[in-house]
Amino acid sequence: MKFFIDTANLDEIREAHDLGVLDGVTTNPSLMAKEGIKGRDNILRHYKAICEIVDGDVSAEVVSTDFKGIVAEGELLASIDEKIVVKVPMIKDGVKAIRYFANNNIKTNCTLVFSAGQALLAAKAGATYVSPFIGRIDDVGGDGLELIQQIVSIYNTYGFATEVLAASIRHVPHLIRCAEIGADVATCPLSVILGLLKHPLTDIGLEKFLADAKKTM
Ligand code: E4P
Repeated sequence: MKFFIDTANLDEIREAHDLGVLDGVTTNPSLMAKEGIKGRDNILRHYKAICEIVDGDVSAEVVSTDFKGIVAEGELLASIDEKIVVKVPMIKDGVKAIRYFANNNIKTNCTLVFSAGQALLAAKAGATYVSPFIGRIDDVGGDGLELIQQIVSIYNTYGFATEVLAASIRHVPHLIRCAEIGADVATCPLSVILGLLKHPLTDIGLEKFLADAKKTM
């Protein structure tokens, strides 16, 4: 399973990278706004800075919603660095653009996916990744993990190459269930990645080992 970090914060990306477990980064316009990045040139520079930290794929989202605009924006984003994956919303022109990008060897991440039907369309269009949003489905009373299970099953049945990128992961149990189900990638905040480290018995055991080690010195 690949671990992506879901942030545009360079310090957090560096921290996850330094841990040695990071396979990529996902961003979105809200995460970019949170970092105070404004203006086209600054946005492009920021994506480049992220690409210089990580070894894997970096999703950069388009904000156009028409085919021509998505293609122009996606091509510009893809020209920044070969690690860039163009993140395209699950809308009609988005699906057409994903097919265009697939035909032109540009990687894509189909975002804002909330149903198995949408995931099927993304795979048919040739998306590199599909991003079902677990937390946001849970927020409205649905079952985000059930959707991950459905998509993994459909993709396995037909051998689609599109990777299931479980997104909107809010806590460690979400991540563990995604691993059990067989999601290809999980993107989550740094707090969730670091949350994997924690177990009270580890802390108690370490304290005891260190205390006993003192006796041997
Ligand atoms: C995924 O690519 C999205 O950026 C992200 O996971 C959305 O998460 P949220 O629902 O916590 O905003």
